[in-house]
Amino acid sequence: MSEPSDSYTRHAAHFERVYDLDDPSPYFATLRRADYRMPMALVGALKAIHGPLCAARGAEETLRVLDFACGYGAIGAVLRHDVSMAALYDHYAARQWQPADARRYWADDIAFFSARRVETAAFDIGGVDIAGNALAYAAALGFVDRAFPENLVDDAPSGELARFLQGVHLVVESGALGVLLPDAFARVLDCAGSERPPWFLYSPRPDVNWTALHALWAEWGYRTESFLPAPVRYRKPLEAQEGADMLRRARGFGKPDEAIMQGGYFLVDMTLARPEADTDNPPIAQLRGRMVEESSG
Ligand SMILES: C[S@@+](CC[C@H](N)C(=O)[O-])C[C@H]1O[C@@H](n2cnc3c(N)ncnc32)[C@H](O)[C@@H]1O
Repeated sequence: MSEPSDSYTRHAAHFERVYDLDDPSPYFATLRRADYRMPMALVGALKAIHGPLCAARGAEETLRVLDFACGYGAIGAVLRHDVSMAALYDHYAARQWQPADARRYWADDIAFFSARRVETAAFDIGGVDIAGNALAYAAALGFVDRAFPENLVDDAPSGELARFLQGVHLVVESGALGVLLPDAFARVLDCAGSERPPWFLYSPRPDVNWTALHALWAEWGYRTESFLPAPVRYRKPLEAQEGADMLRRARGFGKPDEAIMQGGYFLVDMTLARPEADTDNPPIAQLRGRMVEESSG
């Protein structure tokens, strides 16, 4: 008898094949079907954090952010443009890209996003990903300011990335495999040092064992808080088997079903980890309030 997760594994492998193409449209077509929403939620939080974290770190007005496993740069795309996830999906769905087309749509995309560019608070975004083509796209479109095609999990960072990390204020993550985070975040903390330690905003899926990450936070004197009072709808399962597998794994960690899925969407508890000394500066409730203002403003 085949393993229950066989079809999920096959699907996951197929999904991974869209991570590093010359064109992002197959990746976004896959996620469109699942209504992946997380980048939008994170952008609201980034805007809310900007002012208080700049103030806490004595940064003039530019917040230096590492987007870990940034892929094609969805977070920067939504952050820097008047483009919702729905509009982004519509844009990429309007073409039938084939591998032979290579980068032929990049100029169209640059024109599309340039016309929708908005002034936001200043962010200096460094993107890390092992997918070099995706990262090149993110940089060409201005979704990231610096591209680091590196594997922070298996390898020490290059000198250039280590220098970037020395001044990093915030690390953000959406859609990365949970098992990668403890090692990657440990590298960031090692480089950043203890004088001006960064904050971390991440999207912990309920079907992952987070023990190693919690141990890292304890080692570095960090406290984690739910950024929002309720979990965020992350995306729908890519296929029914993924939903079943996720429920089974998350139940195994003692999670009640209502904390795993709601209305057909996986839930994540968007989490802010920051040094104990920063947790009143400002309190999480104030950051939440700023996020509500940002979203309604
Ligand atoms: C689901 S995608 C998420 C991309 C992007 N953050 C988003 O929200 O659209 C997962 C990404 O993790 C990247 N990845 C996998 N292993 C990695 C590693 N060891 N270091 C950095 N990125 C990695 C993949 O290349 C892929 O771009």
